[in-house]
Amino acid sequence: MGAVKLVLLGAPGAGKGTLAKMIQSEYRVPHISTGDMLREAVKEGTQLGKEASQYMNEGKLVPDDIVIGILRGNMKDCEKGFILDGFPRTKNQAEALQTILDEGGVSPDAVINFEAPPEVLIQRLSGRRQCLECGAIYHIKNMPPRKSGICDVCGGELYQRDDDRREVVEVRLKAYEEETAELIDYYRSRKLLESVDAGKDPEATFARVKHAIDG
Ligand code: AP5
Repeated sequence: MGAVKLVLLGAPGAGKGTLAKMIQSEYRVPHISTGDMLREAVKEGTQLGKEASQYMNEGKLVPDDIVIGILRGNMKDCEKGFILDGFPRTKNQAEALQTILDEGGVSPDAVINFEAPPEVLIQRLSGRRQCLECGAIYHIKNMPPRKSGICDVCGGELYQRDDDRREVVEVRLKAYEEETAELIDYYRSRKLLESVDAGKDPEATFARVKHAIDG
C-alpha cells in the first residue's frame, strides 16, 4: 500500500485532531491542520494571524482565499501522504483541494466523516485543554493529563482555546451546519465517503478508521 492520503470531516469537537494524531503515529504521514496553522500564525502575530484572528475569535470561517493559500503551501509533497484535518470546509475549498491533488497526480484514499451527537460535541469542547508547546489534546474528564494543567508529552502548559467558550462554540457549530455539512454529500457522490461513529472512545473510533484504511 502507498502512503495514506486521508481527508477528515466532522463537526467541531468530533475528534478530528485527536484521531489525526493517532493516525499520524501509526501511518507516519503528515498531519495537516489548518486550525493549528492559523493558531500558530495568531500566536506569532504575523499578518496572516492578525487577519485570521478576528474570524476565529468569533467562531466564523476564515475566508477561502486565505486558507486555500495556506493549504497549497503545505501540499507540495502530497504524493508522500497526508491527513487533512479541518480542510476543506466549503465547496470552494473542496474544489481547490481537487485542483491541488490533480496537479500532484494523487487522489485521497478516503474522506472520513466523524459523526457525534451535538451534546457530545459540546461536552468535549467545553472540557478540552491543549498544550501550548506541542499541541497535544486533552480533556479534563475524558482524557485528563496525569498532572493537572501540565502536558504528559512535553511538560508544557495546558490552555483552553478562546473559541471553546460556549457562545463561540454555538457560532462554530452553526458555521459547520451551514457551510461544511454539504461536503458529506459532495464526497459521498464521489464514492469517497466513509462515515465513522465518533461518539465512542478514541480506540474504538481508531479501529474503525484503520478498517477504512486497510480494508
Ligand atoms: P479547527 O481547529 O479546525 O477547529 P474545529 O474544526 O472546530 O475542530 P476542533 O479542533 O474544535 O475539534 P476536533 O474535531 O479536532 O476535536 P478534538 O480532537 O480536539 O478550526 C478552528 C477555527 O479556525 C475555525 O473556527 C475557523 O475560524 C478557522 N479555520 C480552520 N480551518 C479552516 C478552514 N479550512 N476554512 C476556514 N476557516 C478555518 O477533540 C475535542 C475534545 O474532545 C478534546 O478535549 C478531546 O480530548 C476530546 N475527545 C476527542 N475524541 C474523543 C473521544 N473519542 N472520546 C472522548 N473524548 C474525546
